[in-house]
Amino acid sequence: MSKTRCLVIGGAGFIGSHLVEALLMEGHRVRVFDRIDPSGLYSEASPDALEYVQGDFTAPDDLKGALANCATCFHLASTTLPKTSNDDPVFDVQSNLVASLRFLEQASQAGVKRVIFLSSGGTVYGPPHYVPIDEEHPTDPTNSYGIVKLAIEKYLALFRLTKGLDYTVLRLSNPFGERQAITGTQGAIAVFMGKVLRGEPIEIWGDGSVVRDYIYIRDVIEAMLLSMTHAGPHRIFNIGSGRPRSLSEVIDAIEQVTNRSVERRYFKARTFDVPKSVLAIERAKASLGWSPRTDFLEGLARTRDWIEGQLRG
Ligand SMILES: NC(=O)c1ccc[n+]([C@@H]2O[C@H](COP(=O)([O-])OP(=O)(O)OC[C@H]3O[C@@H](n4cnc5c(N)ncnc54)[C@H](O)[C@@H]3O)[C@@H](O)[C@H]2O)c1
Repeated sequence: MSKTRCLVIGGAGFIGSHLVEALLMEGHRVRVFDRIDPSGLYSEASPDALEYVQGDFTAPDDLKGALANCATCFHLASTTLPKTSNDDPVFDVQSNLVASLRFLEQASQAGVKRVIFLSSGGTVYGPPHYVPIDEEHPTDPTNSYGIVKLAIEKYLALFRLTKGLDYTVLRLSNPFGERQAITGTQGAIAVFMGKVLRGEPIEIWGDGSVVRDYIYIRDVIEAMLLSMTHAGPHRIFNIGSGRPRSLSEVIDAIEQVTNRSVERRYFKARTFDVPKSVLAIERAKASLGWSPRTDFLEGLARTRDWIEGQLRG
């Protein structure tokens, strides 16, 4: 077991909780930093393997102590969501960008070797000029969330240049799986699955032909683990399934794994929903030695089992 710790900022969230479990399984010692108390999330970990620091990422001094003796830091905290970030860009910049910059300064002072940052393949590119979208695609985000993610990516490059702090950026598509909130405004699969299992209708903006790239959570975590030791010229990777799926196809698949049919209510398409967004994942395959491995229906079935458990209470 390595003596240093991995720090997971935002380790009590959807993606973070899966990452923490996987790191522990691989024999790493982990420190979780989050503003919410994750008690009960990782019940099997020994106190020696897992530490928890409760704090606010946006508060200037909360994180400092948590950085000691951490070689690798995963940055998963976000205070905003794509859909609502344009409502208050000042808040977005202050809470995400400024806090991330402060974190990078404190991390380089504390001797952190590598930061792994979860960026957003769905927003940093803006409306696609072509699909699948590779990492060389122009970056013209149309929301503050994407602009801030991109700015953090640029500062990561600056800190590597000036302070030698290495980094990997993973531009995620649309992850789904156990522990994704079924009541949220992000995560279409979890929300739809929740509605199907509760027997509620699904609201669809447009005709259901909008295409996205959905990736099962364990495949995302695999890419994050591989990023820890990756060496090579590239530092920015798309992480998605690379497989286009329309909303209608996704709902058909949810009906199949739940063995239920759902009422679909159609509304006028929203102007900000681009018709098609799919990520090219060849760079991650070649450089990280990573590939998404989970069959879509298998991922949906695991998600269904978890949501059914939640609904049973
Ligand atoms: N879920 C997605 O669809 C998706 C897609 C692309 C990128 N991402 C990025 O991945 C990261 C993790 O996403 P997630 O889906 O697990 O989100 P999540 O909301 O489930 O988890 C985020 C965690 O960060 C914590 N956090 C937020 N603000 C904090 C603060 N100020 N101080 C301390 N902790 C704070 C939250 O308490 C939460 O536990 C985010 O950066 C998100 O932008 C997510």
